[in-house]
Amino acid sequence: MNIDLSTQIAGIPLESYLMNASGPKCTTWDELQTIAQSASAAVVTKSCTIKPREGNPEPRYQDLPLGSIQSMGLPNLGYKAYLEMVPQLKALGKPVIVSVSGFSVEDNIEMVSAFQNSDVDLIEVNFSCPNIPGKAQVAYDFEQTDKALAAITALGNKPIGIKLAPYFDMSHFIAVANIIKKYPVKFITCINSIGNTLVIDPYTEQPIIKPKGGFGGLCGDYIKPIGLANVRAFRELLDDDVQIIGVGGIKTGIDAFEYLLAGADAVQIATCFEKEGESCFERIETELAEFMQSKNYLKIADAKGKLKPL
Ligand code: FUM
Repeated sequence: MNIDLSTQIAGIPLESYLMNASGPKCTTWDELQTIAQSASAAVVTKSCTIKPREGNPEPRYQDLPLGSIQSMGLPNLGYKAYLEMVPQLKALGKPVIVSVSGFSVEDNIEMVSAFQNSDVDLIEVNFSCPNIPGKAQVAYDFEQTDKALAAITALGNKPIGIKLAPYFDMSHFIAVANIIKKYPVKFITCINSIGNTLVIDPYTEQPIIKPKGGFGGLCGDYIKPIGLANVRAFRELLDDDVQIIGVGGIKTGIDAFEYLLAGADAVQIATCFEKEGESCFERIETELAEFMQSKNYLKIADAKGKLKPL
């Protein structure tokens, strides 16, 4: 039986349900080329800023038994470098999703306007990086979220999505969904890491990463139930014309299937890609197809959003 894992986000066809997340190993041309040559359905860039950034001081990433903690601080080449790369990236044959993460509405306007005039397929605006000292996450400031969306969705016709922080309260899901409904947001990506967590090494009596006194984003298995809940909540609150990309703790085909049941249109892989490398995309895709086959689901739509009540 042939299982069809193809999907689409905002009208952009994707050959499979899995792609890399704007996170690890997607900053340089070589890294992006590696992703393009893998089974990732698209090439997603590291979130870029107006100027190139070195990011936070090392150590800023540590593996944990069930995931990782990181505070990279948006190391990236600056948006102009990605803008220049777009033609070569497109020539690699996969949809290109650029992630932008300005430090102000003006930054995001400048970057989104530039990418609106490029050949990128989708623009993901990151409202949720928790790792910039002194900068709050826009996704937790609903007034800012509203203002930023009003500005960035008025800049052109290329589909815009936003990467959200994890929410933990029903009132927050409702508030954010109501803001999103006011604007032509075509997709949401949820969730980013759980920001400002602390892992302590009891032997050295120190945090295990340096930036922000050890506070960093928690990733991997730890956050899968939160990612699933965010996808599910937003799927129930938003109209179907806003698509959802699920992220958080996907390292097997069954994890990807759970996101599908919750209502994800596609998923992104971060920590597993960091730890395992680009072979993870093909492995997870094969596992997902096998699991769907075992349940007689032939295509993504057969299971999407079909979480059964208990
Ligand atoms: O620190 C970082 O570069 C992470 C970015 C993000 O969480 O969006």
